[in-house]
Parts: sequence; structure tokens; C-alpha cells
Amino acid sequence: MTPVLVEMIPSHIDRVIKIERAVYPSPWKRRDFEFARNRKNGFCRVVMVECEIVGYVVGFLIDREFHLANLAIAPDFQHKGLGRRTLKAVFDLLETRARVVSLEVRMSNCAAIDLYKKMGFETMAIRKAYYTHPREDALVMLKPLNTRLSDWVSQVFEV
Ligand SMILES: CC(C)(COP(=O)(O)OP(=O)(O)OC[C@H]1O[C@@H](n2cnc3c(N)ncnc32)[C@H](O)[C@@H]1OP(=O)(O)O)[C@@H](O)C(=O)NCCC(=O)NCCS
Repeated sequence: MTPVLVEMIPSHIDRVIKIERAVYPSPWKRRDFEFARNRKNGFCRVVMVECEIVGYVVGFLIDREFHLANLAIAPDFQHKGLGRRTLKAVFDLLETRARVVSLEVRMSNCAAIDLYKKMGFETMAIRKAYYTHPREDALVMLKPLNTRLSDWVSQVFEV
């Protein structure tokens, strides 16, 4: 299965919300996707397989950091390599625009943590009680793009 990433447009949002509600205990609302779509630095793509929306990815570019705010694959399409291929496609698109990708993930979300580790993310911090419904800590994970994490950190602190 080869995913194609397509700019998220308003007519995609009903399907996106359906997936969102199926995969998260505390799902984003329509306004959250609209907010991201309307931000100049927002990055919103749907993941398509044979003309069907099977997932999506949302993030924000802040200087040279890409913050991955949401990534989901519909339940029927999970564990088929789409999450991994989607992330790879996002990294390729960002190659010249971002030096590092950051994200938060629920401590109990083993599937996502496993995927992120396999894609080269490292755990950098824990945010206590970051999530509500249910209340849970977050892992903060970072992945450098075409640089070493230590080089990126020292550049940030030199500015
Ligand atoms: C996390 C998510 C995006 C992964 O997408 P996916 O298409 O199922 O992932 P892939 O098939 O590409 O799997 C890649 C790796 O992720 C891990 N993984 C994926 N699903 C898993 C599961 N159910 N249990 C354990 N590990 C899992 C495995 O390490 C897997 O590697 P493997 O195939 O060698 O075993 C998907 O499970 C999802 O949408 N979850 C709900 C939303 C979510 O939690 N998003 C992340 C928020 S931070």
C-alpha cells in the first residue's frame, strides 16, 4: 500500500473527524483542524490510498522545528506500514524547511512510541499530566533531520 499525501481541504474534514473519533479517547474537534488549516505555518495533509482517505497528519513549522501535532491512520488500515510511510513522506517534504521534528505522545501509546523510535525519534523529556481525559503524562520526542540532535541543540542555544 502506497500512501499519497494530499493537502487537506474543507471537504476532507468530515472523514478526518470520523477517523479522529475512532482512534483517540479525547479527539480534536472540527475547529482544531480548521485552526491548523488556516495557520500560515500549518501543515495539514490527508493520507490517501487508492482515492480513499485513510489517515492524516497535522503539524506546525516554527522556525526550523516541525511540531507534529497529530498523526492518525484509520483502524482498518493500521499495522500495514502506512504510519511509517506517511512519516517518511513528511520528512522528505520537510527536508529543506526543518532541522528537527518534535512531538508529544501519551506514555501508554505503545504503538505510536514504537513507531516513532523506529523512525529515529529520541525521548527528551516527560511532561507531567500533559493530557486530560484521561489524565496522563506525555513523552516529548525529537528527531533531527539531516543533522545530529546535539548539533541542533547547540545551534539553538547559541542564538
Ligand atoms: C500510531 C499509528 C499512527 C501507527 O500507524 P500504523 O500505520 O498502524 O503503523 P505502521 O503499520 O507503519 O507500524 C510501524 C511500527 O509501529 C509500531 N506499531 C504499529 N501498530 C502497533 C500496534 N498496534 N502495537 C504495537 N506496535 C505497533 C510497530 O513498531 C510497527 O513496526 P512493525 O510493523 O515492524 O511491527 C496508528 O496506530 C494510529 O493512528 N494510532 C491512533 C492515533 C495515534 O495514537 N497517533 C499518534 C499520536 S502521538
